[in-house]
Amino acid sequence: MITGAARGIGKNAARMFLANGAKVAVCDVNEAQLAEAGRDLDPSGALPLLTVAANVADRASMDKAVKTVTEKWGRVDVLINNAGITRDSLLAKMSEADFDSVIGVNLKGVFNCTQAVLPVMSSQRKGAIINTSSIVGVYGNVGQTNYAAAKSGVIGMTKTWAKELGRKGITVNAVAPGFTMTDMLATVPEKILDAIKEKTPLQRLGTQDDIGNAYMFLASDAAAFVTGQVLGVDGGLVI
Ligand code: CAA
Ligand code: NAI
Repeated sequence: MITGAARGIGKNAARMFLANGAKVAVCDVNEAQLAEAGRDLDPSGALPLLTVAANVADRASMDKAVKTVTEKWGRVDVLINNAGITRDSLLAKMSEADFDSVIGVNLKGVFNCTQAVLPVMSSQRKGAIINTSSIVGVYGNVGQTNYAAAKSGVIGMTKTWAKELGRKGITVNAVAPGFTMTDMLATVPEKILDAIKEKTPLQRLGTQDDIGNAYMFLASDAAAFVTGQVLGVDGGLVI
């Protein structure tokens, strides 16, 4: 199950998981874009792909989404808490509404989705939860008080859940992408992106595949003894 998968990193990850034989449920709040993603990911309608309209910020909506998936496939092996939004502004100008909406989706959304799949994973005594944090949750960023708070919070929840859920056979890890080429970067001025590339040891921005590969690793049995970690996928920007 991948949240926020109607476009960007989540949609690309869905493509990668499908190509590797997984059954994939993509969830997103943007129903039109989700339907388009469904057609794009599976033009023939033959792949094990489920599109589920759901809002991670709404607990009831996520309970319903998990029910849809378990009714279809009976289990949830992997949850990727990938949905996220930005509402950037400097601290002096940030509105309470923008603070609350980013916390609601990027922090509480991760709580909602994880709590919704927990009974299923607990009864399986196996599961992998992958939370999408950000380089910004690790080292902060100008204009992102709300986003940094949420993404740091995601790291705190990741470590807490790794400790709580390990005995149930569930691993919990976070991926902290660096600046990655998706529509989310559209609001970032070009000169800031140039400066980021310059400061990055590997001298480029991230690709959607870079992040998808990290998701694939953490979802796989190759990562069976990895839990509570924050995997930076940022070209070495945070060293
Ligand atoms: N790093 C360093 N300096 C930055 C900066 C950044 N990321 N963003 C803004 N600044 C600096 C500006 O250069 C400017 O400096 P000067 O006063 O010296 O010129 C100062 O902050 C104020 O910036 P603005 O004049 O642009 O002020 P504004 O109020 O019009 O806008 C802003 C402020 C909304 C923060 C805007 O600058 C902006 O959108 N910055 C980009 C923020 C950003 O990096 N967002 C990441 C989005 S992608 C994402 O979130 C994914 C992820 O996980 C990485
Ligand atoms: P994106 O903006 O391209 O895609 C995000 C998706 O999440 C969209 O399809 C959107 O409709 C969906 N979404 C938003 N609110 C939702 C909600 N309430 N419920 C369900 N779905 C919702 O973003 P991108 O770049 O693909 O980001 C994916 C994740 O990676 C996010 O968590 C983001 O914060 C994180 N990230 C992105 C980086 C980047 O540079 N692009 C860097 C670090 C982290």
